[in-house]
Amino acid sequence: GEMSGGCPFNGDGGTRGLLGRTNRDWWPDALNLEILVSGGKSADPYGEDFNYAEAFNAIDYNALKADLTALMTDSQDWWPADYGHYGPFFIRMAWHAAGTYRTGDGRGGASSGQQRFAPLNSWPDNGNLDKARRLLWPIKQKYGKHISWADLFILTGNVAIESMGGPVFGFGGGRKDVFEPETVYWGTEEQWVNEGVATRILPDEGKALENPLAAIQMGLIYVNPEGPGGNPHDPEGMARDMRETFARMAMNDEETVALTAGGHAFGKAHGAKPADNFGGAPESEHLALMGFGWLTDKDEIGKGHITTSGIEGAWTPNPTQWGNDYFRLLFKYEFELVQSPAGANQWQPIDQEEADMAPDARDPSKKVPTMMTTADMALKRDPEYRKISERFLNDQAALDDAFARAWFKLTHRDMGPKARYLGPEVPSETLIWQDPVPAGTTPSDAAVAEFKTKVLASGLTVGELVKAAWASASTYRNSDHRGGANGARVRLAPQKDWKVNDPAELAKVLAKLDELRGGLSMADAIVLAGAAAIEKAAKDGGYDISVKVTTGRGDATEEHTDATSFEPLEPLADGFRNYLKTKASVKTEDLLIDRAHLLGLSIPELTALVGGMRALGAVSTHTQHGNRIGVLTDRPGVLSNDFFVNLLSMNTEWSVVDDSGDEEFLGKDRKTGEELYRATRTDLVFGSNSQLRAQAEAFAEGGGDKTFVETFVRAWTKVMDADRFDIA
Ligand code: HEM
Repeated sequence: GEMSGGCPFNGDGGTRGLLGRTNRDWWPDALNLEILVSGGKSADPYGEDFNYAEAFNAIDYNALKADLTALMTDSQDWWPADYGHYGPFFIRMAWHAAGTYRTGDGRGGASSGQQRFAPLNSWPDNGNLDKARRLLWPIKQKYGKHISWADLFILTGNVAIESMGGPVFGFGGGRKDVFEPETVYWGTEEQWVNEGVATRILPDEGKALENPLAAIQMGLIYVNPEGPGGNPHDPEGMARDMRETFARMAMNDEETVALTAGGHAFGKAHGAKPADNFGGAPESEHLALMGFGWLTDKDEIGKGHITTSGIEGAWTPNPTQWGNDYFRLLFKYEFELVQSPAGANQWQPIDQEEADMAPDARDPSKKVPTMMTTADMALKRDPEYRKISERFLNDQAALDDAFARAWFKLTHRDMGPKARYLGPEVPSETLIWQDPVPAGTTPSDAAVAEFKTKVLASGLTVGELVKAAWASASTYRNSDHRGGANGARVRLAPQKDWKVNDPAELAKVLAKLDELRGGLSMADAIVLAGAAAIEKAAKDGGYDISVKVTTGRGDATEEHTDATSFEPLEPLADGFRNYLKTKASVKTEDLLIDRAHLLGLSIPELTALVGGMRALGAVSTHTQHGNRIGVLTDRPGVLSNDFFVNLLSMNTEWSVVDDSGDEEFLGKDRKTGEELYRATRTDLVFGSNSQLRAQAEAFAEGGGDKTFVETFVRAWTKVMDADRFDIA
């Protein structure tokens, strides 16, 4: 029936599912392997004991690079190389593998080889890269599990640049493949780019690019090359879209200009015929095509009559050679808007001299005009980009350095600390975006014991100590391996001021720990203090357990820290501490699941941590809900399974608190009506959701308290150690 007054969510366009539109929505008829990977069964053919770092380190790295170099000019009839060189094509492959990275949640990026799977393998922007990956197969096959696809994509990009005389800064291996599509939120639109009018930035409607998304439309890596929504006459909009999307990938203006111009020193765009001459994307194509998409006639491919973006032509007269022709032509000529044979908007130099024209991709004796996309034109139409472009025009060395560094950052941004890099080409220079942490030292057992005793006598509560340790460690993201307890950046801006961390309380705790720590690093002291608090809380609950701490963490200073780059790590919600900054476009319990995923937790670990943090009184005081919400126990600070026992008790009847936007709930004694507890969605979801309820039952049932304590301690230790790549 009709709702009077309307649904409370309708105000801001309603809520969305955590994952938005998924593979199942795009390709309902695709083969479904999910039933085989449910039940905790891994899809990884190499097995749990496989150590990729060892396998990689055993490789003949120079032989692999030599094979890749030879591949560049080994043109295949089924997909001939433009200009006899696959280099540009492979650079685009590597750039698109890395370019899905976004700072908002650290997801996307090159680190797991996702370009092999849907939806990325079928995104319009990844058109024809199915062929680039297939060209690499003989080399992948030869080196087997010693080189992951993910590493191979990036290394091939590097070799491509080197083989055309371009500058590179280095290469770090260590990207372990996964064997199933990652579940990432890519947006909610039901259309790919160019199929509809969708654009995610609508300034007239006050609409900014939704976080954490980093592309302007579904199916794009960044922007529409033809202009916002395909409009070539909106230079401001073009620059705005580029600036916004590149910033979401941690790139500033200079890096954006260097990357785009440097990339387009190479290769060509493909738009020989209107797109409807070609078959569908790989995920939807006929079985006999064996994973290929965008099908066209063999002879046409031979002639180079293919369409990828729809734009046609090269940027420079020397598309397989590094140089400064891109900027030279950009500034030498005025450009006029033309349409490619496929009907795309692009810009052509007016009265181009023949010497500045490009060779035909299949026939070097034939000359064709070069072009610029609307995005390229922004590098001279936007005043800020233009200043940088003019500098690069006149200073080749500056472009070389900026391009090499920006490419290295682009392709390594999601690998986390330098300790994760493998191989002989890891640059010795340490870069600020690698979030460096000075090496720590390992304190003696006696020093540790003495510190823990002092902490417990300090007057700080269990809740305060547990919250501080959690605040320090829980910034970790499995996606780009940033954050975590190492470095103790929780005592620096911006973390120390985040509302979720209850800044005043955190400052008090950190000052006290600093006073007591002796020779320990702050990073170790914070984790040790949390462990001491949990051991005491367990003892008070009648459990004799110890919480293992692996010391050796170092302390980062402000100099080691790009504070701005840590801003996206601020949790908008942290269900573990029952904190919600502002109501989001997804349900609050979805945000809890999202954080648990970023922390690499299993469902039992997630459940035990939520219940344990509540029992310990480690909830945020700084929420709209007030202090101690969700603490369903009359003995906070004692480690117990009270949260689960009381949550599942039929003595309590729950109802939503008026005006809380369905976020806050009151638990009353079913018989007397007495108010017993207050709770949030992230509390009650462990009673209402059937799967989470099953977990809560396992912890609340007879004997479940022991299971709970063991799981809690294991999960806690996992979070505290999540970023210890220095010891792994
Ligand atoms: C090709 C757009 C940034 C490297 C292309 C194509 C388009 C395009 C439309 C033609 C694809 C085809 O039809 O085959 C853009 C836009 C960018 C951007 C709008 C950003 C605003 C970059 C970056 C790099 C790069 C950052 C690498 C550092 C390349 C290369 C090709 C290419 C090497 C040639 C591929 C080939 O020859 O097959 N780009 N690009 N681009 N792009 Fe970009």
